[in-house]
Amino acid sequence: MATKAKKALVDVDKLTKAQAKVEHMRLSLEIEAHNERYYQKDAPTVSDAAYDAMRHRLEAIEARFPDLVTRDSPTQTVGAAPARGFAKVQHAVPMLSLGNAFSDEDVTEFVERIRRFLKLDADHIPALVAEPKIDGLSLSLRYENGELVRAATRGDGFTGEDVTANVRTIKDIPHTLKGRNVPAACEMRGEVYMLKKDFLELNKKQAAADDTIFANPRNSAAGSLRQKDVSITASRPLKFFAYTWGEMSEPPVDTQHGMLEWMDKVGFVVNPLITLCKSVDDVLKFYNKIGEERASLGYDIDGVVYKVDRLDWQERLGFVSRSPRWAIAHKFAAEQATTVLKGIDIQVGRTGAMTPVARLEPVTVGGVVVSNATLHNEDYIKGIGNDGNPIRDGVDLRVDDTVVVQRAGDVIPQVVSVVLDKRPAGAKPYKFPDTCPVCGSHAIREEGEAVRRCTGALICPAQAVERLKHFVSRLAFDIDGLGEKQIQEFYEDGLVKSPVDIFTLRERDGRSTSKLMEREGYGETSVRNLFDAIDARRNIELHRLIFALGIRHVGEGNAKLLARHYHTIENFREAMLAAAKGSEDEENTTEAYRDLNAIDGIGEIVADAVVEFFAEPRNVKALGELLRQIDVKPAEQPRKSSPVSDKTVVFTGSLTKFTRDEAKAMAERLGAKVAGSVSKKTDYVVAGEEAGSKLTKARELGVAVLTEDEWLKLIEE
Ligand code: IVH
Repeated sequence: MATKAKKALVDVDKLTKAQAKVEHMRLSLEIEAHNERYYQKDAPTVSDAAYDAMRHRLEAIEARFPDLVTRDSPTQTVGAAPARGFAKVQHAVPMLSLGNAFSDEDVTEFVERIRRFLKLDADHIPALVAEPKIDGLSLSLRYENGELVRAATRGDGFTGEDVTANVRTIKDIPHTLKGRNVPAACEMRGEVYMLKKDFLELNKKQAAADDTIFANPRNSAAGSLRQKDVSITASRPLKFFAYTWGEMSEPPVDTQHGMLEWMDKVGFVVNPLITLCKSVDDVLKFYNKIGEERASLGYDIDGVVYKVDRLDWQERLGFVSRSPRWAIAHKFAAEQATTVLKGIDIQVGRTGAMTPVARLEPVTVGGVVVSNATLHNEDYIKGIGNDGNPIRDGVDLRVDDTVVVQRAGDVIPQVVSVVLDKRPAGAKPYKFPDTCPVCGSHAIREEGEAVRRCTGALICPAQAVERLKHFVSRLAFDIDGLGEKQIQEFYEDGLVKSPVDIFTLRERDGRSTSKLMEREGYGETSVRNLFDAIDARRNIELHRLIFALGIRHVGEGNAKLLARHYHTIENFREAMLAAAKGSEDEENTTEAYRDLNAIDGIGEIVADAVVEFFAEPRNVKALGELLRQIDVKPAEQPRKSSPVSDKTVVFTGSLTKFTRDEAKAMAERLGAKVAGSVSKKTDYVVAGEEAGSKLTKARELGVAVLTEDEWLKLIEE
């Protein structure tokens, strides 16, 4: 999500070389990040239109300043390198991409280029096959002697992921090709996709199981195919259209449309709308007709692909960088509609992030009824920071505004512009709430962050389950028999709603008529064990308690620094309450805040987050209730002078004398800092068996390396 305000873009024609260089670098990085989210994580954060706009601009910059083109520029590569987890497959013939046409002129220009290249007469228009551009993910299927031997995703175009086992579960894909005269080796290629109705159905099931919700059919197809557990893929309704090929030992025919007929004959599903066109007019007619039918097709398409029909001409035309000269994708404009913004709701996520959602007068956009749209964050409503979206620049959104909404292949629609002429006279700028709509705690926005968050970490119902899971996690209260699963169940049944409830569970169970031991999966012993495990944690180390509070930015390390500094919970609590008194002021000038900020290792962001937590009375109340149930052990103070006080130590390799956690605790007790990586600042590296790169680095940097015994000897001194 964007954090910076977007500046108006300078025309590419007006960029100086220096400006172009900077922008080329920025756009390349941004596109790569989007590629990774789209191709590897199946979780894009921008619409296709916004992505295309970025890519377009990068291409325009490179066209003006060709020496900015590098080998690893996103214009020279396709997609993203394969994700880890699946075996890699080298494509015998690379899986390239298509150039785009956005207007009728672009299409005419494409045909002209072909004519010039092939030196055809002015009136000789090459026949073109027009195919719907299916919005899914491409797949390469290798058949040897008619048998499916390997299926691979596109990956970066050269190396994909081996998804053979998953692909064998897709009904549209034959395991054996029909007919006797199939080529000895052939790679069939096409698109895996999901029907819109199947996607909606799947999302319903996912929501019921509290599982990943997919943004659109394409993401759900990609996510379903790339499952480590084949049975999950098998349960997903994936479909496949064949439309091209890679390696082919003996091509059976000599035209594109002939090849499509052949694919149908050997057992593939070929899109029934595909049409052979004889003129640019024909092609554009097809484009317009498909555009009209698009919403009712049952699957998403994002344009039409035109391909030169004669294969010998395809061969002669060849490729330019990453796309063929013989084919182009004529993209559809995003589907748009006008409606009224009825209100803005605020949703509070599991980490307290407050996301505004537009409540819209229901309207049909490309065959789907849209009644809400994400507004991302506060800045987005103001019309700034649109994450590279060249839309709605600087125009804010107001309730009762007439707005244009768009679906660009995505099911989650965007509000792209405001019809200012229709803005009602009394419409006021939207004021983003500074309290949480769920729990009423104050909500803050950290510097440089686009997101406003609820600070009611301990008490906000929207955050409760996650916070409780954190509260019992290994480095926090670490209660045997009370893991994420039990917390989830207890929360849903109203047994545990806040941390203090964990410690009153035994007492409440004693009074209750529906006993814990009567629940499924519990018996007398397991319940007794659970209560005992909870009691055992009534005496807890201070740093564990501080960590358990789930204060933003306070991980295990910072919790320990705080515990060591304040020594007791009473000191800590009083100091933080004193510091919180200054949190409303422009600059917090309390002595307690200054003291907190001066702790070695605690920066301003952490200090502010701790103070914000204590500035929320509901958190303080919840902590007070908890403290009535537990005892907090004072933190062990480091011995004044040990041979390792203030030294930085790294443990590496497999340790045999003590566990990693023990080693860490021991070192910290003696006043040492334990780090995770070796640098010039490291004083000692304690290397166990099979130590690897950290040991090598220590040797390179001349850092003292100790065996476990040498370490023990050193600290015993
Ligand atoms: S032909 C060398 N035909 O669009 C060109 N691609 O932007 C090979 N796509 O990676 C692609 N429908 O995932 C071709 N009828 C069609 C298509 C199609 C969808 C996808 C495919 C490709 C991408 C290129």
